[in-house]
Amino acid sequence: MSDPRFAQLLKERIGLDAESVGDAVIERAVRQRCNQVSGGNVEHYWLQLQGSAEEVQALIEAVIVPETWFFRYPESFAALARLAARRALELAGTRPLRLLSLPCSTGEEPYSIVMALLDAGLAPAAFQVDALDVSRAVLERAEEGRYGRNSFRGSNLGFRERYFSTDGNDYQLSEAVRRAVRFRVGNLLAPGLLAGEAPYDYVFCRNLLIYFDRPTQTQVVEVLRRLARPDGVLFIGPAEASLMSRIGLRPLGVAQSFAFPLQVADAAPRAAPPKWTAPAPIPRPAAPKPTPLRPRPAGNTVQPAAAPADNALVDIARLANSGHAAQARQRCEALLAEKGPDAEVFYWLGLLADAQGQGSEAQGYYRKALYLQPDHQESLQHLAALLAAQGDAAGARRLQERAARGVKRNG
Ligand SMILES: C[S@@+](CC[C@H](N)C(=O)[O-])C[C@H]1O[C@@H](n2cnc3c(N)ncnc32)[C@H](O)[C@@H]1O
Repeated sequence: MSDPRFAQLLKERIGLDAESVGDAVIERAVRQRCNQVSGGNVEHYWLQLQGSAEEVQALIEAVIVPETWFFRYPESFAALARLAARRALELAGTRPLRLLSLPCSTGEEPYSIVMALLDAGLAPAAFQVDALDVSRAVLERAEEGRYGRNSFRGSNLGFRERYFSTDGNDYQLSEAVRRAVRFRVGNLLAPGLLAGEAPYDYVFCRNLLIYFDRPTQTQVVEVLRRLARPDGVLFIGPAEASLMSRIGLRPLGVAQSFAFPLQVADAAPRAAPPKWTAPAPIPRPAAPKPTPLRPRPAGNTVQPAAAPADNALVDIARLANSGHAAQARQRCEALLAEKGPDAEVFYWLGLLADAQGQGSEAQGYYRKALYLQPDHQESLQHLAALLAAQGDAAGARRLQERAARGVKRNG
C-alpha cells in the first residue's frame, strides 16, 4: 500500500519526510486508519481524509514518534540551569524567563526543564515554560503527569525521589512541577505559530528536525529564530547539530549539551561547518582525502587490513546528519564486515547509539574505537561525557586527561 498521496499529505501537514522515517512507518499508520475507518478500502479512506480534519489528525496521531524520557541528554539541562541562573540574576526580577519546548511529546522534556530550574534555585515565579506538540494524545498524557518506568532512563534518578510520588507501578509528578508548564497543541509548520507571544529566552526543539527534509529544516529554523530572543539559546537533538553549523551557529561549547546561542559575532552563514574539536554531536568528517582520516598509531593496536574509504565515512556522516540513523548504522556494519575493525567506524556507531540515547551501547563502541586507536580524541571525549553523565567523575577525568595528553603530543 505504498501510496505517495499519503506521504505527501503528511509532509504538507507536519513536515514528515517519508525518506527519514521510512515508508514502512507511513504505510503502517495508513493501513491502521484505513482498516478502522474504511474497512481497508484505500480510495474510500483517501476521500475520507480530504473531507475530515479530524481524520487527518487521527492519521497524524498514528504516525508520530513520541519517544522521549526525563533528562534526555542530561548535559543540556545542566547547561540550561547554569545559563538560566545567570540570566535570572541579570534580570533581577524585571520579567520571568521564558522557555519553550516544541515538540514536547508526553511532557518529559518541559517537566525536566522545570525540575532543572527549581534545582538551580530559581523561584517558580522566575520562569514560564510553554510546551507544544502537534499530537493531542501526547498532550493529554503530559497533563496527567503520570509516568511509567520507560520515562526514567540512565542512572541519575535522584529527581524522581524529589518530585514524584509512587502510584502502583507508576510515578505521579508533583503538582508544583506540573503547574509550571502550559501545554498547547501546536504545529511547528503552522503559519503564525505563537504569533503575539513574547519571544523565548530558551527554545528546546529536539528530535523533530531529523524527520524533515532539508528545505523544511531550513524553514523551521527560521521559525525557531522568530520565536526566540536575539540573545536566546536553541537546544536541539544530537543528530541535528550539523544543521545549526550549516546556518552559521556555533555550539555553546559544553559537551553533549547541544545548545546553540543565537547571538554570534559573525552570524553570516559559512560555506563549511567549523572544524570539529570539542565533543559535539554527529560531526561531519573532514572533506574526503585520498589518505585515511587519521593516521593509526603504531604499537599493539589492531590495524585494519585496509582503512575504509573516506567517501564511505562521508556517506555515513551524510546519512547521520540527515536523520537516517538506521541506514547510517547499517552502512557502518557493512563497512566493518567488508574492511574489518576500524576505530573511525566504531566511533560513528558510538555516536549513532549515543544520539539515540543508548548510552551503554555507545560506551561499548567508543571503547572498541579506543582499543583500536587509544588516542582517538573524539571517542575519548564522548566516552568521558557519558561517564560524567552517569556519575563516574573519576573515570571521566582520566579519559579527559588522556585526551589532553594526546592533543599535546599531536599538537
Ligand atoms: C521524538 S518526539 C521528541 C520529544 C522531545 N522533544 C525529545 O527530544 O525527547 C517527536 C514529537 O514531535 C511531534 N511532532 C511531529 N511533527 C510535529 C510538528 N510539525 N509540529 C509539532 N510537533 C510535531 C510528535 O507528535 C512527537 O511527539
